[in-house]
Amino acid sequence: DDVRELADQVIAWQRQAGRHDLPWQNTRDPYRVWLSEIMLQQTQVSTVLDYYPRFLARFPDVFSLAQAPLEDVLGLWSGLGYYSRARNLHRCATVVVSEYGGGFPRSAAALSTLPGIGRSTAAAIAAFCFGERAAILDGNVKRVLTRAWGVSDDLSVAAHERALWQRAEQALPTRDLARSMPAYTQGLMDLGAKVCTRSRPTCVACPLAAHCVARREGAPQKYPVKTKR
Ligand code: ADE
Repeated sequence: DDVRELADQVIAWQRQAGRHDLPWQNTRDPYRVWLSEIMLQQTQVSTVLDYYPRFLARFPDVFSLAQAPLEDVLGLWSGLGYYSRARNLHRCATVVVSEYGGGFPRSAAALSTLPGIGRSTAAAIAAFCFGERAAILDGNVKRVLTRAWGVSDDLSVAAHERALWQRAEQALPTRDLARSMPAYTQGLMDLGAKVCTRSRPTCVACPLAAHCVARREGAPQKYPVKTKR
């Protein structure tokens, strides 16, 4: 059926057309994945590629980050913007050290209680590192899924946003999660960033095009519907 198909198509596309060589891929170290996800929240991949290795060289693990003065962390962050991310990063490191002995909790639910880790970021870390069946739904992924499914509900309405989360959860892979969840999660992110772009999606390059409601309608730009933000 269509629900199962979407995951399979995203995974197949990611394996053959997605990126596999980014420095935060090919690791299951939650510290490295967490750091990359926080940097990537509001910053382009090309910029993060410049900052991420320097940050890791100075703070190779959660202990070194927790022990560092906040000023040092802000110094290495300078240029990335959105400095609350750096403050939360430092706070989160101190909590992981003091409350968890330096090991990140291994579920999306527990991760989402930490400073600076929202539901989608928690799911990304849990999917990449632990193969957890957890849905991400950041701005890019909302665009991909609402277009594919033709969801025209106003996502400013909490009940509609909640319904989309549920549908995203139902669409997750069901087999071989240790391999499929990382590929699926990265694939959705990459589709949203590279193919299913806001104003001019490249539908000819999209693995979901055959079933995509927005494409059939000829008006992908109308999704997602959000009246206020
Ligand atoms: N944006 C957020 N997370 C990302 C990731 N893992 N790869 C590329 N872009 C992202």
